[in-house]
Amino acid sequence: MKNGIFKASVVGALLGITASGCSTASREKTDPQMPLLLGETLLADDSVHVNAHGGMIMEKDGVFYWYGEHRGDGTPGSMQQGVSLYTSSDLRNWKNRGIVLQLLDSVGHPLELGCKIERPKVVYNPTTGKYVMWFHHELKDRGYAAAQAGVAVADTPEGPFEFIRSARVNPGVYPENLSEEDRNAAWDPEMEWWSEPWYGQLRQGSFVKRDLDGGQMARDMTIYVDKDGRAYHIYSSEDNLTLQIAELDPTYTDHTGRYIRVAPGGHNEAPTLMEHDGTYWMITSGCTGWAPNAARLLRADSIMGEWTQLDVNPARGEGAETTFDTQGTYIMKIGDSFTFMADRWNPENLGDSRHVWIPVKFDESGNPYLEMPVDTETVTAEP
Ligand code: GAL
Repeated sequence: MKNGIFKASVVGALLGITASGCSTASREKTDPQMPLLLGETLLADDSVHVNAHGGMIMEKDGVFYWYGEHRGDGTPGSMQQGVSLYTSSDLRNWKNRGIVLQLLDSVGHPLELGCKIERPKVVYNPTTGKYVMWFHHELKDRGYAAAQAGVAVADTPEGPFEFIRSARVNPGVYPENLSEEDRNAAWDPEMEWWSEPWYGQLRQGSFVKRDLDGGQMARDMTIYVDKDGRAYHIYSSEDNLTLQIAELDPTYTDHTGRYIRVAPGGHNEAPTLMEHDGTYWMITSGCTGWAPNAARLLRADSIMGEWTQLDVNPARGEGAETTFDTQGTYIMKIGDSFTFMADRWNPENLGDSRHVWIPVKFDESGNPYLEMPVDTETVTAEP
């Protein structure tokens, strides 16, 4: 699927006008089911495409805060500056609020320019009154080897965020759902990768044990705050082969030591999470770098599991096999509506990657699915 398919809807969306020329303004302004299926350039108030990728939107007191990866300005040699913030009152018109977590021109600092910050997520902590940002952090000149989780806090959603630490997760602690037998099972680090016995030992936690002392790897991630106020860090671990869900402490700035493994060996990335009618759903991607692939769907009755991967692609219709040329980053809930926020990555110029928002719908069995409206008529139909 190419961008063209979205054009009719996108132009109408940005202007708030349907194909028949009727204004859509009478609909709820903040209804995320509105035609916000951008996929085209989205200009903020500075006339520059919104440079907030792998991000999320937090709503607070009627303001939408869109945090994401700043990805350079596309000119040769331009570098990521940190985490950017855009604000809006209607999810349409965005004001560039600048960089709220700044990378530093400081040799040896974990946030030294040249390091990578990916998939930042911000949550408000009512106990401390602080805004807490978590992100996937890779150290300068180390590619994706560090696989750390970074955390920063701010007094206001506009920041600036103050860096606290970056580290692997829960050193020295086994996941709750790794059995005693598996904990004690021997494993061979020389075993041929991708062989059946190698998968067998992986399922028994070979990489958990490999990383036990230094802490678990943490790459693609999201943060989820449950109904009871407990927050969880959900991340691709074990060389991206297994998801882990780790509970955060009451300040949301550290892990408690409680964590589980989800779909060991399932190769899930880009986790997004929501709860609907008492069921927890995760929509993830496979692992093909910047190239899009088919999304996956997992469900559980509680966030700490047990999670089951369903044998279905949550995306439906033309383009479903590549999730409409996107990879998810967050499920935004506003009122009773859920919107799957995704990136259409442009690896040649990451800052120019496009934002695609897809309404999450539920079928008769209560299973969520993603369907891309194909024309303005559909786009502007009532949810
Ligand atoms: C993707 C991942 C992105 C980024 C990229 C690097 O799979 O979702 O966040 O890490 O790989 O190749």
